[in-house]
Amino acid sequence: MRKTILGAALALAAAFASPAAGAAGHTIKVGILAEMSGTFADFGQQITNGAKAYMKQHGDTVAGRKIELVIRDTTGPAPDVAKRLAQELVVKDEVDFIAGFGLTPNALAVASIATEAKKPTIVMNAATSVITARSPYIVRTSFTLAQVTEPMAQWAHRNGVRKVYTVVADYGPGHDAEATFKKTFAKLGGEVVGEARVPLKNPEFSPFVQKVKDARPEAVFVFVPAGELAVGFMKAYRERELAKAGIRLLSTGDVTEDGVIDALGDNALGVISTHQYSMAHDSPENKAFLAAYAQVAPQQRPNFMAVGGYDGMAAVYEVVRRLDGNVDGDKAMGVLKGLKIASPRGPIQIDADTRDIVQNVYVREVRKVGGKLYNVEFDHFPAVRDPGK
Ligand code: PHB
Repeated sequence: MRKTILGAALALAAAFASPAAGAAGHTIKVGILAEMSGTFADFGQQITNGAKAYMKQHGDTVAGRKIELVIRDTTGPAPDVAKRLAQELVVKDEVDFIAGFGLTPNALAVASIATEAKKPTIVMNAATSVITARSPYIVRTSFTLAQVTEPMAQWAHRNGVRKVYTVVADYGPGHDAEATFKKTFAKLGGEVVGEARVPLKNPEFSPFVQKVKDARPEAVFVFVPAGELAVGFMKAYRERELAKAGIRLLSTGDVTEDGVIDALGDNALGVISTHQYSMAHDSPENKAFLAAYAQVAPQQRPNFMAVGGYDGMAAVYEVVRRLDGNVDGDKAMGVLKGLKIASPRGPIQIDADTRDIVQNVYVREVRKVGGKLYNVEFDHFPAVRDPGK
């Protein structure tokens, strides 16, 4: 039913489309759906600032077309809001691309609209594996939890860890992290001695962390989404004195990401994580990114979401350039499939078949460099794919 309504609205929009649409000079609109308010407001800030940093560095005109961001606030994990806003972006704003998505539920909610409207849709963060399979018009410039978790399990085993307790946020990306860690670790001969899932909203970490301590594993593996949940987990880890009990903390980089690392403070020192981006990554591309980001948001440390937004805009620019400004959904997908980008995190590629990202995954340790906390990369797994793809 909804499908029919959107279909009719699209037909109407096409009939009344301004004559300038498609003609030289028409602005290319990138509709960004992101969490701009509420508990997850940082996600939207990072993503949109990353996108703006790309535009700052490369100018706002490509192939004679002005590029415009149309930013809409999903307010948090709110699939119904995301879906309604996506419909408006397509029908009212007539965007050429849909992009953004800090949180998985918001990305999943928009898949059917991407398909029906044939809109190239760029997921700049949401990291549950299945998202790209939900529409042939979705590509991802961020990562998947499975992609960064498999190397963590491998690294842990290689470094003598055999008994691990897993703690994940109880929704899509957490379930992927839990399953991937267990599968990879078990195959290598390790054992997951306990599993805990914590709610996405207002979790109380202390009881979970006490259970971990009581089980006496050698390490705890953690994924919670970037930001406040990471602070909550680290606080409980310290208060329950897990480190003193000899339980190491291994995590995906979401827990120690650059935007939150100052709030974690010295408690985070020594935490090992795997992820695709660190501010401390040493490359000319990262230097240029950091300089552009500092111009857009001087008060904020950019994290991996900012890089997802930045690279997502790099993908948009490449599509507009290669299509000489005449953006059409199917042709855009033709450019996006197989696209390679020299990202601030290192080389990345959008796999032509899965439309998901292939990239290096780095092993990092939280250390102090020049008096500030950083995720210092000391090892890496090259050109990693989502293990299920
Ligand atoms: C997600 O909802 O897919 C998500 C959010 C934050 C993260 C990772 C994944 O840090």
